[in-house]
Amino acid sequence: MKNGVQALIGAQWGDEGKGRVVDALARDADVVVRYQGGANAGHTVIVEGKKHVFHLLPSGMLYPDRLCVIGNGVVLDPEQFISEVNGLEPAPEKIGTRLVVSNNAHVVMPYHKQLDVLSEQARKTMRHGAVIGTTGRGIGSCYVDKYNRVGIRIEDLASPKILEEKLRMNVEEKNLILEKLYGVPGLNFDELYETSLSWGRFMERYIGDSSCEIDSAVKSGKKVLFEGAQGTLLDVDHGTYPFVTSSSCVSGGCCTGGALSPGRFDRVIGVAKAYCTRVGEGPFPTEDHGASGERLRERGAEYGATTGRPRRCGWLDIVALNYAVRINGFGVIALTKLDVLSGFDELKVCTGYEIDGLRSVGFPNSAYALDGVAPVYESFPSWWEDISKCRTFDELPVTARDYIGFIEKSTGVPVGLIGVGPGREDTIFRDF
Ligand code: GDP
Ligand code: IMO
Ligand code: MG
Repeated sequence: MKNGVQALIGAQWGDEGKGRVVDALARDADVVVRYQGGANAGHTVIVEGKKHVFHLLPSGMLYPDRLCVIGNGVVLDPEQFISEVNGLEPAPEKIGTRLVVSNNAHVVMPYHKQLDVLSEQARKTMRHGAVIGTTGRGIGSCYVDKYNRVGIRIEDLASPKILEEKLRMNVEEKNLILEKLYGVPGLNFDELYETSLSWGRFMERYIGDSSCEIDSAVKSGKKVLFEGAQGTLLDVDHGTYPFVTSSSCVSGGCCTGGALSPGRFDRVIGVAKAYCTRVGEGPFPTEDHGASGERLRERGAEYGATTGRPRRCGWLDIVALNYAVRINGFGVIALTKLDVLSGFDELKVCTGYEIDGLRSVGFPNSAYALDGVAPVYESFPSWWEDISKCRTFDELPVTARDYIGFIEKSTGVPVGLIGVGPGREDTIFRDF
């Protein structure tokens, strides 16, 4: 990783393989920062055949001496955090000071998860309800409290008096919602308070000022990698609203959620699959409901890393990718899962949309406008070889190189890293 401070962003609807690319780049990075989202993420890293799925911890955790930071923009579920830390090898006692959680990150409380599930269920029964297909991890309801200024922050878990005050207010308010709106039993303050204090005792050693940690790392010339969760098209502002998550997944989110000024970033890396997938509801212009979609799912093992749901599969969408290039300012693309495209009779790439009979190459960034678009495809030949052992660009079959060349030409962005398999070593480095 030659660039000093880099942001790594999902270019599609999440699950692009961000975890494995972070793991590949963390080889040379000093610091890895998660800056938004929460345990809705599922970032898979496979090392020596062993699979690790990170929901909250940065994907740099597998290297023994990287500083890993959870920034203020994250919503952190302490139950998930504790189980992930306890599951780490080497044992959590050995983590020492190499894991820092921002004092200002918000706590996902059990009632956030409950409200997330209840509101999705309620929408299913409503005549005008738009079901989003959330992960049920309490993400939306926690960010609601953050922006409503009633949220509980990580630092509060270690301050019994402040915690008590904030929790009493929240329990009172949430009980109104639970009992009066949803007709379910309310929360027990004492139980929740005791549990929260126990989380605080576990977390105390990790709580710090993440913005100072990142600032001093950058000032001392360390290599810092910001690890995005979800993807551009799930961003709360720029995604296919309302079928999005509740955080800023795009590169701009690094500045607020990671507390670093925009001027200090050297490069933005876009991670894109060689095709597209989506989990949950919402528009997906290049979705393939036929045999090709099924083949992508089976060859790509496209089942959610967090919920196990089958992912919807379809072709690479250059219109959407160019939108992601523009919103994030990608300087380079990491293209994953190229191996999955081996052996197709034909590869399709969407190069434009037809909207009301008119051809457009612009991405309408609203779910309602996207609903009516028809993708316009170009066809490419596939290759029959197993490419999973290729380690240089030149070893790839010419049709695979041409496919990548077309992506570079259509986006104006070089493809600097290529994934040819899920393992750490299944990576072709070109510009990193
Ligand atoms: P993330 O959320 O963006 O980190 O991605 P996920 O981990 O949710 O999903 C990506 C899936 O694809 C995981 O199962 C990875 O192990 C797998 N994967 C990543 N890169 C490649 C690749 O280049 N080839 C293959 N075959 N699988 C990959
Ligand atoms: P990673 O980081 C794919 C989707 C959910 C749902 C919508 C809102 O692994 O790429 P939420 O629980 O966030 O309120 O759900 O966003 N979603 C993801 N899809 N990968 C993810 O994370 C996702 N995180 C959320 O399926 O459609
Ligand atoms: Mg994932």
